[in-house]
Amino acid sequence: MTPIQECIRNKKVGSKPIWFMRQAGRYLPEFRKIRKLNKNFIKLCLDVNLSSKITLQPLKRFDLDAAIIFSDILMVPYGLGQEVIFKKNFGPELNSLNLETISEIKDSEFSKKLLPVYKSIKKVSKSKLVNDKDLIGFVGAPWTLLVYMINKCSPKRNLNKKFFKDKILIKETFEILDKFLKIHIKNQIKNGATIIQIFDSWAGLLENKYIEDYIYDRTLKLVNFIKSYKVPVICFPREIKNYEKYCKIIKPDVINIDYKTNPEKIIKKTDIVVQGGLDPKFLLTDKEKLKIEAKRYLDIFKDHPYIFNLGHGVLPKTNPQMLDYLIKFVKGYY
Ligand code: CP3
Repeated sequence: MTPIQECIRNKKVGSKPIWFMRQAGRYLPEFRKIRKLNKNFIKLCLDVNLSSKITLQPLKRFDLDAAIIFSDILMVPYGLGQEVIFKKNFGPELNSLNLETISEIKDSEFSKKLLPVYKSIKKVSKSKLVNDKDLIGFVGAPWTLLVYMINKCSPKRNLNKKFFKDKILIKETFEILDKFLKIHIKNQIKNGATIIQIFDSWAGLLENKYIEDYIYDRTLKLVNFIKSYKVPVICFPREIKNYEKYCKIIKPDVINIDYKTNPEKIIKKTDIVVQGGLDPKFLLTDKEKLKIEAKRYLDIFKDHPYIFNLGHGVLPKTNPQMLDYLIKFVKGYY
């Protein structure tokens, strides 16, 4: 069994497995080199040779316990026919959501559009570099995808609150997402993903009165679907106000915490396996500060099954040597 599966299935404590969100990305010069020649991000995700190569880049450098497929949560709206572009220094931009068009998309058409993602997963799963390691597939949570699809850009820029009023649009989009997220998950598992992570990056944005309908109900459907394949599911409801309640209702195999969540409090309140937490900004400081902060997490989770990771993705300004230092420190700690 892989170190991560031992931790999840056997609740193994002791040495902590480790991987990073956005471990393949802009902080790596070898990624930037490829990116420079491939200006269209979606096209890059759909290039089987390049996306599998990028997925494996961090595993060539570091002693990590998992690969995460190089793709994006916005590949699902793309698969549904909503145009997605990534503008430099702006982030993702989507064109208008047309319910009629996305309601007409057929299963086979969607799977065909995203076929390179599945081929890439298959290719990576056969690589020696992931022998005895996990290959993480992922999806955006329905709520976070709805935000991008209706808001058309990151809500960090501006959130058009008007859309909360269109209950029909919301309900129908959720129904379509439920169907196609399940297809996307199934295709990833069938092609070699051994774990699925659900990213709910905008969970913290939602008013309490909507949480039941837009986060709990919708996410639970996906979590139960993933569990039916006997594949572990990691949930990351970033900045959700009540992690404890989320765990109680959703019951993911692993809960990823953000850096604002108190790690001590979380283990007092739940026996679920925990992942992540460390503020990625510590990787921008110095080794001494990074070590103290990493040690804090390792000590708190000494007797609790814990997968070392961050409280959000690796930042583009990170020096790869700092990541290397952190991995070696974590691996050598116990
Ligand atoms: O973690 C990994 O290494 C796997 C690949 C991965 C990417 N995006 C690649 C990527 C994963 C798991 C994601 C998830 C994702 N994508 C999320 C959830 C996690 C989170 O960050 O909250 C979200 C919200 C997105 C949507 C998205 N894609 C954003 C907001 C951005 C950043 C845009 C910017 O200009 O900063 C992306 C682009 C993106 N996705 C990059 C990578 C490596 C950067 C691409 C580049 O410009 O080179």
